[in-house]
Amino acid sequence: MPTWTLHRGDAYTLLRTLPDESVSATITDPPYNSGGTATTARTGNTARGKYVSGDAQHDLPDFDGDQRDQRSYTVWLTLILTECYRATMRGGPLLVFTDFRQLPATSDALQAAGWTWRGIVPWHKPIARPVKGGFRRACEYVLWATKGPVHAARNPVCLPGLYSASQPRGRNRVHITQKPDQLMAELVKICAPAGTVLDPFTGSASTGVAALASGRSFIGIEQSQEIAATARTRLEQAAS
Ligand SMILES: C[S@@+](CC[C@H](N)C(=O)[O-])C[C@H]1O[C@@H](n2cnc3c(N)ncnc32)[C@H](O)[C@@H]1O
Repeated sequence: MPTWTLHRGDAYTLLRTLPDESVSATITDPPYNSGGTATTARTGNTARGKYVSGDAQHDLPDFDGDQRDQRSYTVWLTLILTECYRATMRGGPLLVFTDFRQLPATSDALQAAGWTWRGIVPWHKPIARPVKGGFRRACEYVLWATKGPVHAARNPVCLPGLYSASQPRGRNRVHITQKPDQLMAELVKICAPAGTVLDPFTGSASTGVAALASGRSFIGIEQSQEIAATARTRLEQAAS
């Protein structure tokens, strides 16, 4: 029977309380700390201002922790991913979401944390805003890595290297950077069957819901009180 736990608080502080090698996989979507090539665009704007279009019809909660510059983001993410590395069992996978601006910082951080970088899985978003004079930014990216050699015997899957899925809309959208349930249902297959998935940036618990629906257990961390309440409701529904 899959189980779930949601810790409310700071990821780095709480990750340090997890036992060594206690989870099968880390799958996470940190605040990208992106949103602009200039300092003012990054630091003078809230997460909501960066990731929600001006004509959005909803009033979803904002979140903190999205104003680091690229150097401090790399250091901070390295610390986080080092703790995830310690908590994940040998051979276990790591998946981390990022965008095009933070892709180099994210690949630096995961390798500095000890993970072996294995590849990039693009997530194609069919509805992306046009860019005048250029290309639509129609993809975000999932970097994948392992703690040491790939453990194919534990999880003999052959997964696609690319996914297409639309962001949740209307009443299905409960978080400003929510990942699609159908995308997460595919990504959790990288975790060994009946294993435990760790997500230190739980948000609305898209990772957790997918883990539970597939018979895997889930350990999540979320800093925001309000967002953690949403995650808890979704996890309770997924577990029932
Ligand atoms: C990109 S969102 C995750 C969205 C999630 N994947 C979903 O589908 O709903 C990042 C989340 O990390 C949380 N967060 C930011 N800083 C944090 C920290 N230091 N510790 C724990 N959670 C944090 C934010 O409140 C936000 O909900």
